Amino acid sequence: MDRLDKLVAQYSDYSRKDVRKLVKEKRIEVNGVPALSFDEKIGEEDLVMLDGEPILRKRRILAVLNKPMGFVTSTEDPRDRTVMELVPKEWMKMGVYPVGRLDKDTEGLLIFTNDGALAHCLISPKNGIEKEYYVEHTGSVEKEDIAAFRAGMVLDDETLKPALLIPMEKGKSRVVVTEGKYHQVRRMMAIRGMDVTYLKRIREGKLALGSLEVGKWKELEPGEEAELLGK
Ligand code: URA
Repeated sequence: MDRLDKLVAQYSDYSRKDVRKLVKEKRIEVNGVPALSFDEKIGEEDLVMLDGEPILRKRRILAVLNKPMGFVTSTEDPRDRTVMELVPKEWMKMGVYPVGRLDKDTEGLLIFTNDGALAHCLISPKNGIEKEYYVEHTGSVEKEDIAAFRAGMVLDDETLKPALLIPMEKGKSRVVVTEGKYHQVRRMMAIRGMDVTYLKRIREGKLALGSLEVGKWKELEPGEEAELLGK
C-alpha cells in the first residue's frame, strides 16, 4: 500500500504538495471517483488517474517474446521494423528494452526487461548462459563438424567457447552456444560448409520457449527468472 500523494509524486511531474491541491481540484480519481484525500491508501490493483490519464506505476518487468522474422533487434532503425514495435505501450513507458539480440531473420526466444542489473547479468560472457537454437540448414552434419564446434571455432581471429552441434535429422540440428557474437550460429555453420535456412532460439539458461506462439509475450514469474540464469 502506498499513500496517494507519495505515489503520484513518484510517477508524475508533481510534488507531494502539489498533490494536495490536485485532490482539492478533483483532478485525481481513484477507481473512477475523485480521490477523497491526499493520504488515501492505494493498493496495487487500484487505478489512479490524473486529469483522465492513468498513473502508470513503474514495476520491474521481465518478459519473453517469441520474436517473429522481419524485425530487427534495436530500439530504432531507419529502414526496418524493430522489435520495439511489438512491445506493449504501457511497458514502453516503463523503460523495457531487449536483452541481447536476434538477427532480423531469426525467430524465437528474446528477453525484455527494464532491470539493467539483470540485463547485464544475462549478457555477461562471464556467466556463460547457454543459448540453444533449432537450425535448418543445407548439407549434413559429420563427426568432424561436431568436433570442430566442441573444440571452439575461430571467428574474426577469436577462438569461441566450446559449442554443441547436435544433428537431429538430415538438414535439422540443434546448436548450443554460451556467447552472443554477431551472426554467430550462421557463421559457425557456414565455416563447416552448411547454410542456415531457418534459425530459431528455443532456450536461454533453463528457460525454454515451449509452446509460446510467434509474436506472443509471456511475463516471467520470479521462479522463472532463476531458470533463465540457469540456476
Ligand atoms: N546466431 C545467429 O547467427 N543469429 C542469431 O540471430 C542468433 C544467433
